[in-house]
Amino acid sequence: MKPQTPPKTYRVKSFGCQMNVYDGERMGELLAEKGITPAPEGEEADLVVLNTCHIREKAAEKVYSDIGRLKKPDGSKPMIAVAGCVAQAEGEEIMERAPSVSMVVGPQAYHRLPDMLDKAVKGERATDTDMPAIAKFDSLPQDRFGARKKRSPSAFLTVQEGCDKFCTYCVVPYTRGAEISRPYNDLTNEAYKLVEAGAREITLLGQNVNAWAGEGTTGAKVGLGELIHAIADIDGLERIRYTTSHPNDMDDALIEAHGSCDKLMPYLHLPVQSGNDRVLKAMNRVHTAESYLKLLERFRLVRPDIALSGDFIVGFPGESEAEFEDTLSLIDEVRYSQAFSFKYSPRPGTPAATMDNQIDPDVMSERLHRLQARLNRDQIAFNEASVGKTCRVLVERKGKFEGQWLGKSPWLQSVWFEATQAGEVEIGDMVEVELVEAGPNSIKGALLASVTA
Ligand code: 5AD
Ligand code: SF4
Repeated sequence: MKPQTPPKTYRVKSFGCQMNVYDGERMGELLAEKGITPAPEGEEADLVVLNTCHIREKAAEKVYSDIGRLKKPDGSKPMIAVAGCVAQAEGEEIMERAPSVSMVVGPQAYHRLPDMLDKAVKGERATDTDMPAIAKFDSLPQDRFGARKKRSPSAFLTVQEGCDKFCTYCVVPYTRGAEISRPYNDLTNEAYKLVEAGAREITLLGQNVNAWAGEGTTGAKVGLGELIHAIADIDGLERIRYTTSHPNDMDDALIEAHGSCDKLMPYLHLPVQSGNDRVLKAMNRVHTAESYLKLLERFRLVRPDIALSGDFIVGFPGESEAEFEDTLSLIDEVRYSQAFSFKYSPRPGTPAATMDNQIDPDVMSERLHRLQARLNRDQIAFNEASVGKTCRVLVERKGKFEGQWLGKSPWLQSVWFEATQAGEVEIGDMVEVELVEAGPNSIKGALLASVTA
């Protein structure tokens, strides 16, 4: 590769989960420390970081078409770094298949991006897919103002990474590595800095966020519930959320926090994947449909209005029609407020990819269609049941039309409302609205008052 002009501007394009969004922000901070600035909206950057997702085949293949499409106005290619889980899983292949890529950096190694960039400028291509557990966080900029420049009032904070569960369909344990928890003090400090920089809502992130474990201020072992209580003590922070949880890592303190911590929002994303015990076993999920339902009951007991969300996979190898129907029954029982559902996608290197009885793609499509019809039914019903309620909305951005504002209800519904007077509402305000009209994906609110400016 020829030596390249040092980039002046960058753009990070993050795909997939919210953890990637967080990682993308942190890579941006590293580049900003080197004096590289975010490319203005609509302009191609000198350096593009593709922060990729490997969870399903479609997501993983996307990186190659994206690399092909990247062009600056003069027809030349920007400098390209491939980061994220495709980088981790297919690093060498990317370097071979895509000669225009200068850097390949895995999710646990991106703190080394600045050094790799120096090499790339000299014309040396660099790959780093090491997994040095916690080292990354210690080497990232401590000042979080960089990432908050766009001043979204909602911030992510990675508390835990990696996965030891080895569900048989999933690449995450291979791409993100073993479960690690960041230390308690680092997290309360980072949360404080985020709030100081304008965050009013913090979403705690982890592949198994409720597996987070640490030592509290007294040295005692604490879990996510206690961490949430500690972060809730930060003045100026209004809302706390967390995602994604695993049923087997739930503990009493976290469930209790939903009853006792006002700042913890009434929303739980708890993937189940299937409602059939044989399939769950083949997936190595360890829980059963019944143990999952019992767990949800405990949340509903302490927080009766809690909105429930989940993930589903249809067409796991060997899934029969009757087994699929068990998933539909589970959905009927839970009544999710929203959910994510996918066709099973065989991932190289995972046990399920070589299992017998892979399901015909047409059967998968048909099952997904039926499953999503049920989930949509429940999402609409949930939204309709909200009409007439008064709630707080954290204003996140302007809507498409003049005077329109968008934000989230406590139950993570998108709410839009109108406020036409100049200065009446600002991004980051917490406003009180009455929910007046439900759509499938959003709710119309009527502004009652601005609670805090
Ligand atoms: N195929 C389809 N969906 C998958 N997920 C994870 N791996 C696969 C796969 N191989 C889904 C699960 C998980 C979500 C993040 O992605 O539902 O909870
Ligand atoms: Fe993947 Fe299962 Fe780990 Fe979730 S718990 S990241 S689905 S292996």
